[in-house]
Amino acid sequence: MAKLVINDAKELSTIAPEIYGHFSEHLGRCIYEGLYVGEHSDIPNTNGMRTDVVEALKAINIPVLRWPGGCFADEYHWRDGIGDKATRKKMINTHWGGVVEDNSFGTHEFMELCRQLGCKTYVNGNLGSGTVQEMSEWVEYMTFEGVSPMADLRKANGHEAPWKVDYFGVGNENWGCGGNMTPDYYANEYRRYQTYVRNYNADQPIKKICCGPNVDDYHWTERVMKTCFEHTPAEHHGFMDLISLHHYVFPEGWDIKGSATDFNEEGWYKTMSKALFMDTLIRRHSAIIDQYDPDKKVGLAVDEWGTWYTVEPGTNPGFLYQQNTLRDALVAGVTLNIFNKHSDRVRLACIAQLVNVLQSVILTEGEQMIKTPTYHVFHMYRHHQGAQLLASELSDVSEIGVDEWKVPAVNESVSRKDGIITITLNNLSATEENRLEITLTEKNAYELVEANIVTADDVHTHNTFEAPENLTETKFTALQINGNHLTVTLPAASVVEIRIK
Ligand code: AHR
Repeated sequence: MAKLVINDAKELSTIAPEIYGHFSEHLGRCIYEGLYVGEHSDIPNTNGMRTDVVEALKAINIPVLRWPGGCFADEYHWRDGIGDKATRKKMINTHWGGVVEDNSFGTHEFMELCRQLGCKTYVNGNLGSGTVQEMSEWVEYMTFEGVSPMADLRKANGHEAPWKVDYFGVGNENWGCGGNMTPDYYANEYRRYQTYVRNYNADQPIKKICCGPNVDDYHWTERVMKTCFEHTPAEHHGFMDLISLHHYVFPEGWDIKGSATDFNEEGWYKTMSKALFMDTLIRRHSAIIDQYDPDKKVGLAVDEWGTWYTVEPGTNPGFLYQQNTLRDALVAGVTLNIFNKHSDRVRLACIAQLVNVLQSVILTEGEQMIKTPTYHVFHMYRHHQGAQLLASELSDVSEIGVDEWKVPAVNESVSRKDGIITITLNNLSATEENRLEITLTEKNAYELVEANIVTADDVHTHNTFEAPENLTETKFTALQINGNHLTVTLPAASVVEIRIK
């Protein structure tokens, strides 16, 4: 039987709520249809934002939302998306499906969406094809309170008070779609652009995010840290508050990717193994960052992660629309556990993407909306937001899998907030249940607060518009508590949350 020891006296780090963040790009049906239907739509909305989607998202406590891309960000010119909607410029969304982008969702609409969600704002600037002046003026437009050309323009467009920009990304994937730059070239550009991302409000400083590596490009991390972190006074964070990391799980590889719903046992374990690679990536990139920043002033922002499959048959290949099964719930469960465990360095993460694109928490079709298995994992894990990570360690865990795709059968993280301990567990076995004995080392009497599970008999289970509740969060009962000992039976392919006090 696997064992989990939790040191309930040892708090390691605060789990930043922003680890549970999301990403919304002008891509396929994420913004248009998924989030924004316009004020005149028959679909119930508030100021153009879908009421059903906003309500569902509020229930998972979205802490931060990233926008407008992604690759779209480095081709986005913010002035096209302000002012009278009837005269806003129409453009081609060259990256995503070649469709017409009418710019009816722009800065004001994004800020309104975040207001309705009650979340922090993460705006991604255009370094790839925009100018320093354009980026600088966008920041002035959004955040300057006094009299200035950009603040006056914002007021003329109907928004008197400045907004709060919590995070600002200085370019996206500048090693690829954001300009195909070398790390040294980008690093020097970053130094220049970020200079003009002004903090107009000293009480609400904007946290600047530097473009970090693609997956395991350790050279990028090394060069960018060297140029952007060193030679700066200790009180500054080397011009950056966070550095990003992107890692997607393509089960079969970039060219073929693989179906979201039709996979065999090998496909299951490949996916689990590739998701677990996130842990290696964080360790290795952190080791490089540590050389420059041993005090951990700079956070790692894993601001794009999740599964990426072949699009659903009959849908636009440029729209990246995919279904979401119990397999995705496991990917979410293990990845969020990994982030929790590394919360000393990982301070923000955004699953890609919020609605109708890649590993979404919500899918829509016309006026219908469904919650995916990934949604239910975010709902259970919301209790980790802002909690203290507790020291915990697994032992006697069996290794399972097919051929070279071997993974540990169980994965976990543990935190405490307001006196309640939240334990999240994943059984990665597609076929076998796993028993687990949990011991807490300090306090010797615990009682159950609640326990929930996301699982199904068939790993391919997913929700559809015809059957929206095939897979939801249900009560978990296969556990016994005896003082400071718990015995748990995790069904095959399950994500479990146990809360005790
Ligand atoms: O999330 C889809 C795309 O993946 C993003 O636009 C880009 O940043 C990444 O390559």
